[in-house]
Amino acid sequence: MLQKIQDMLNEVENLEAHSAEEIEALRIKYLSKKGSIAALMNDFRTVPAEQKKEVGIKINELKTRAFDKINSLRAAFAQTDTDDSDIDITRTAYPTPLGTRHPLTIVKNEIVDIFSRLGFSLAEGPEVEDDWHVFGSMNFADDHPARDMQDTFFIEARPDVILRTHTSSVQSRVMEHTQPPIRVICPGRVYRNEAISARAHCFFHQVEGLYVDREVSFTDLKQVLLLFAREMFGENTQIRLRPSYFPFTEPSAEMDISCNICGGKGCSFCKHTGWVEILGCGMVDPAVLELNGIDPTIYKGYAFGMGVERITNLKYQVKDLRMFSENDMRFLKEFEAAN
Ligand code: DAH
Repeated sequence: MLQKIQDMLNEVENLEAHSAEEIEALRIKYLSKKGSIAALMNDFRTVPAEQKKEVGIKINELKTRAFDKINSLRAAFAQTDTDDSDIDITRTAYPTPLGTRHPLTIVKNEIVDIFSRLGFSLAEGPEVEDDWHVFGSMNFADDHPARDMQDTFFIEARPDVILRTHTSSVQSRVMEHTQPPIRVICPGRVYRNEAISARAHCFFHQVEGLYVDREVSFTDLKQVLLLFAREMFGENTQIRLRPSYFPFTEPSAEMDISCNICGGKGCSFCKHTGWVEILGCGMVDPAVLELNGIDPTIYKGYAFGMGVERITNLKYQVKDLRMFSENDMRFLKEFEAAN
């Protein structure tokens, strides 16, 4: 019996296998219920009492050795299985989808880019503002309708704290700590208390421009805006300025561009007029310069403000404003090429 166990121990030490199946076959041969070690255990009953202790120890040793050997074969096999030589490093990688910029970001960047080429630098201000920067410093009369609860989001506990309704507030933020020459472009989000629909939203985006220096004329404003329109919408774009009113500019105007969807012939987008309004502008009212610490007898300025959604709609013909904030991947993916 002892000899039989010793032979089997030697056999087990020299086991080899080349596949998972072979390892499994060895396990069954030695370690299963009907395997050769189980058979030895059966024979244990016939071992004379005085040898039982020695034989028992030996059988246990055999069992542990067989168990360890098969496990180590398994481990070695698992290692060879994932050998580097199996990896084809020349294979093309799985494509990782890249994110895309939001259409409003693409257009905002383009606007900022055009004006930075004209020497405008970037300025930003807070979205949570106070009444002074949004209205007071911009020459709004105390009873101006824009201050009305219909338009502005107020915070009940702090009547002075509001969400800015336009980026003109950044004009004031810049002027209060900078003396001319000032040439800034100010992109940002603005908020108005409007019901959400295809044509209106409670938040949207604007880009404000401000230029203050000694000799600034309406002609400068018009020329800069013409250049902007042509850079943005193509060199055949026409502009037209219509007289308008804003508390912070005098004279004030609204600017239309020839509809770039129908080329000025008339379509549903331009309501068959051939023109679409894209911004408000004007010469900075001397009162605004004064309110913000700039001497209006020395300096003059022009300002303009445009809606980023509006420009994006025109450029990409997005019909429903809600698309911009719904994060529908199918919509966002359409702007992959514009990134
Ligand atoms: N703040 C105006 C608005 O939200 C837009 C605007 C008009 C800005 C004329 C200006 C400007 O700087 O000169 O409707």
